[in-house]
Amino acid sequence: MRPWKHIVFGAMLGLVVLVACARQAEVSPATAPTPIPQAAPVVATTAPPVDCALAAFQKGGCGACHVIPGVPNARGTIGPDLTNVAQVAAQTMQSSTYTGNATTVEAYLREAILEPDVFVAPDCNGSPCQKGVMPPSLGQGLSEEELAAVIAYLQAPPGAAEAVVTEAPTAAPSEAAPTLSDDEFAWAKLVYFERCAGCHGTLRKGATGPALTPDRTIPLGTVGLSTIIYNGTSRGMPDWGKQGFFTKEQIEVLARFLQREPPAPPELPMERMKASWKMYVAPDQRPTAPQTKRNWQNYFVVTLRDAGQVAVIDGDTYEVVSKVDSGYAVHITRMSATGRYAYVIGRDGKLAMIDLWTETPAKVAEVQVCYDARSVEVSKYNGPEGDFTDKLAVVGCYWPPHFVILDGQTLEPIHIVSTRGYTVDTMEYHPEPRVASIVASDFKPEWIINVKEIGQIWLVNYANPRAPQIKMLPAARFLHDGGWDATHRYFLVAANQSNKVAVVDAQEGRMVALVDTPKIPHPGRGANWVDPEFGPVWSSGHLGDPAIVSIGTDPEGHPNVAWKAVRVTPLPGAGSLFIKTHPNSKWIWVDMTLNSDPALARTICVIAKENPAEPHTCWEASSYGRAVHFEYNAAGTEVWVSIWGDASKPGETGEIVVYDDATLTEKARIPNLVTPTGKFNVYNTVHDIY
Ligand code: HEC
Ligand code: HEC
Repeated sequence: MRPWKHIVFGAMLGLVVLVACARQAEVSPATAPTPIPQAAPVVATTAPPVDCALAAFQKGGCGACHVIPGVPNARGTIGPDLTNVAQVAAQTMQSSTYTGNATTVEAYLREAILEPDVFVAPDCNGSPCQKGVMPPSLGQGLSEEELAAVIAYLQAPPGAAEAVVTEAPTAAPSEAAPTLSDDEFAWAKLVYFERCAGCHGTLRKGATGPALTPDRTIPLGTVGLSTIIYNGTSRGMPDWGKQGFFTKEQIEVLARFLQREPPAPPELPMERMKASWKMYVAPDQRPTAPQTKRNWQNYFVVTLRDAGQVAVIDGDTYEVVSKVDSGYAVHITRMSATGRYAYVIGRDGKLAMIDLWTETPAKVAEVQVCYDARSVEVSKYNGPEGDFTDKLAVVGCYWPPHFVILDGQTLEPIHIVSTRGYTVDTMEYHPEPRVASIVASDFKPEWIINVKEIGQIWLVNYANPRAPQIKMLPAARFLHDGGWDATHRYFLVAANQSNKVAVVDAQEGRMVALVDTPKIPHPGRGANWVDPEFGPVWSSGHLGDPAIVSIGTDPEGHPNVAWKAVRVTPLPGAGSLFIKTHPNSKWIWVDMTLNSDPALARTICVIAKENPAEPHTCWEASSYGRAVHFEYNAAGTEVWVSIWGDASKPGETGEIVVYDDATLTEKARIPNLVTPTGKFNVYNTVHDIY
């Protein structure tokens, strides 16, 4: 690292063009090798020099952490919104909790910028602010004239109307991005991959931490990025500089790296997968009958997203039986065909296998087969072609673009199949088609694997897992999630950005239909029920449209409406992620998790199967957070809903609400879970009941 020190500082200062503060005497050493004595503080006698303030905000990287009206790209959320900071300052100085020394707004701002730790502002966009996140060095790096301009500006920033203009990032990637030497780039790439990818995504598209793509990082600027990486934040970004992982110079290299296009991450060959493979309990060391007295078939395996764990919860007693460390931000859990094992896939591509027969369910094996993953499934077929129950597992990766077949008892990886190929419509080569949902057929030893970007549905016969037979069906681009119809013969999958649902006949191995839908269908696994007018249907909610759409699924009994969108049930808002029902229930449950209105985001609606023209009732399931994802208990008498809170707010991290399905009344709350998300009931997951 050492050789870069000088290059780094030159580049950093070179970025700042201070045309607007021309009168100031302090010039950066990069442009003025001979030191010039600092000018006496300049008292502005004319109107506040706005251009000088804007340049100073940029120099100090202020916009990376603050919203400042009228300042281009000042959209940061790590520090308080500075739109009304003058009023806030006036109020704060009156308050008994104020620990600073200022008595005027101007002095308050000066103190806040030069000695940020004297008083720590209470509210950083909903989370408590933390000492040490805003370093005094930023303000101290400003000349007195710049500081005065900044303080004057903050006392009377332009109106909100002008502020809106700054909402959209204005940077044109790669043009504005700073450069790195080859050595710097290679170092930063490796460090990012080892230290940052787990939270920000291998391709920097975001996971637990936000996306770090150039459209977002260039507006934050090198100074802003460096400060965040050095100091960390109160909402989960580690303080890499303060902890001594990296020097200031190294962090500055990382900050420049983040403004470049993300390079392709490494491949993951079999050798490296095997090196990551750990077996904690060998199959012959495991119990041969359930050790627990609990009704393990009614366990719920619940994703605790921001805790990097899953909780195993007893569906009879609501007790948390165990919490198991899993991969980061678990996406889904699937059970083996007997239900005994839970396979949990993290977004970081780590697969964990949990034995539910032991007293305290724990991991028996784990392996990493991707750097970025979304799906896992098991072998379910038991028939003339063999008994594959609990024999195999398969993981679908986002990166590298492949799927991996594993031994279902040990997780030893057996075979890798690349999904790189040609798009279904224009037949263009696609270098990274991601594997979206996977389901297992009951009719054949077959998985249905959805290859997203090329728009193909692959029927993968696993009878000989080292030489799988693959039939590639053309569907539509952007295949995402889906589920079976009630008979388990037809698989319906959303092609989300194509606004279509594709239908596959698993028995005959062919495409049946492509159904047009409203904007961005997102069914989860969908909901199967019998419509009073159209007979058996499968329903999906939508991210981009306030509606549930039901598709006829009974070509024999109701041929005229089969594979047609027959009914639209309006919802109070869009942003739906999940829909659920049970064959014994008279209701369909639906969320609006990603709605931008906080009240709708925590509202759930129930539709009566008898009268599906509009929702029967809707209500807010909590006073905070977002309501997301439903699951029934094994008997089909209760519905569990997750409240997705904020991992940094004690008391509001999240919980599960249990409703009586017959009466829609609340039965219980399972409190203090960290961002519970998907919940997978063992019985219902094994039998594909939804
Ligand atoms: C790395 C993130 C970060 C950067 C960069 C940053 N700040 Fe801050 N700022 C914070 C945080 C966090 C707080 C709240 C904690 C505190 O008061 O110390 C804060 C507080 C403040 C406050 C007090 C707000 C109040 O409500 O009391 C002002 C004023 C302020 N910053 C101005 C600036 C200016 C001007 C710059 C650029 C020179 C800047 N900040 C750069 C994170 C940052
Ligand atoms: C443990 C998870 C975690 C790791 C590891 C992590 N980050 Fe973060 N990072 C976060 C979270 C969470 C945030 C959002 C913080 C907030 O809003 O206060 C964040 C925010 C950031 C931001 C600010 C982005 C913005 O839009 O405001 C940058 C830059 C960043 N991280 C860079 C890095 C780099 C570089 C590394 C590796 C050296 C890294 N992070 C490792 C969790 C992580």
